[in-house]
Amino acid sequence: MIQAVRGTKDILPGEIGAWQTLESTFRRIAGQFGFHELRTPVFEHTELFSRGIGETTDIVGKEMYTFLDQGQTSMTLRPEATASIVRAVIENTLVEKNPLLRLWYMGAMFRQERPQKGRLRQFHQFDAEILGSAQPEADAESIMLAHTILRALGLTAFELRLNSLGNAASRLRYREALQSYFRPHISGMSDDSKNRLEKNPLRILDSKHAEDAPIVKGAPILTDYLDDDSQNYFERVQKLLTALEIPYIADDRLVRGLDYYSHTAFEFVTTRLGSQNAIGGGGRYDGLFEQIGGKPTPGIGFAFGIERLLLLLDEEQKTPSTETVCDLYVIALDDDSSALGMKLAQTLRQEGFTAITDALRRSFKAQMRDADRTKARFVAIIGEAERTKGVAILKNMATSEQHEVALQDTNSLLQAVRRTI
Ligand code: HAM
Repeated sequence: MIQAVRGTKDILPGEIGAWQTLESTFRRIAGQFGFHELRTPVFEHTELFSRGIGETTDIVGKEMYTFLDQGQTSMTLRPEATASIVRAVIENTLVEKNPLLRLWYMGAMFRQERPQKGRLRQFHQFDAEILGSAQPEADAESIMLAHTILRALGLTAFELRLNSLGNAASRLRYREALQSYFRPHISGMSDDSKNRLEKNPLRILDSKHAEDAPIVKGAPILTDYLDDDSQNYFERVQKLLTALEIPYIADDRLVRGLDYYSHTAFEFVTTRLGSQNAIGGGGRYDGLFEQIGGKPTPGIGFAFGIERLLLLLDEEQKTPSTETVCDLYVIALDDDSSALGMKLAQTLRQEGFTAITDALRRSFKAQMRDADRTKARFVAIIGEAERTKGVAILKNMATSEQHEVALQDTNSLLQAVRRTI
């Protein structure tokens, strides 16, 4: 038996209703904020992600699904959406056409991480980006969109953690401070951290190795190295969030797993999902366009992990109901009736109702049982006797009342089905 790849999941019909509710909530609220959908390919040139996300990140260093295509070009299944969106915007000169873009995207992402609860190798994100604005209003709007979506889903067991990574000059000063701090300790630290000391010391703060933890704990804090501009920017973002009544916790230890961030960085976290506690995250990425070969364009955005949102909804007992409605179940009892039954079902569908016929040609009893299982509101029964009379027996499943309706008289059938909606 060939099984699904570890870390991938089938989304079964019984689960799809919750996904669809989430998807329509994303779509609706992003639309209310003036965002438009943009769809990018599932795979890209590897260079896009290695340059965009950063060579020394875990994602690029060890988690990407990278392969050579037949032309020996290195391709990668996208591990996230932001780099692809920025590439698409540059390539299609979208910022030139509109100086402020609000874009969203939803789809599968791929990271070769060790699978566990809330951590998959193929997972799904909802991602929203605001491109073109270097104003803190864009940061606040991005966070407000995320917050509005979480609230609309009925979630409450989360907090927003907020930090500033400052501008490039501040990060450079901080980088030097970190290197001087870590250097005397580095011989006792993990190989990952040793590798990162010269290339990207900020990444050491994100280390998951136990031997690094006590040293990382005493490391200098980025907020102490923010210059006046960065400090002012961060204050303006916080002021807006307070005015908008979006609660947050300033967390000077928050570093994100991707290198493109500057200024605002944030995560929505929960205590309900164990170690995979981030349901979403994002931040400002003012240097990413240049990294990818575009002209300087500021950007801010975030992504939710859809599987994690679903897990949290389940924890909070807020999983949206997945009931589907069947308006009419047509029971046909012989060969000639089955064509009539299929036509009758189609008449209802054309009027916007849901109608099902039995493609197994089961017995009357078995079809009745199936009508019950599908929670049909009405059953129409056509056998030889009904067919010769030109009628069907219409049974209301809630009241058990039944009466004959003429097959030619679709109006009265429609009326009967409509009345009880
Ligand atoms: P990220 O923090 O890497 O950010 O991912 C965003 C969210 O995707 C996480 O908070 C988590 O909920 C979900 N996620 C990540 N990895 C997995 C996994 N292996 N299994 C299940 N869920 C996962 C980004 O991807 C950025 N592109 C966000 C962004 C948009 N920044 C600016 N704009």
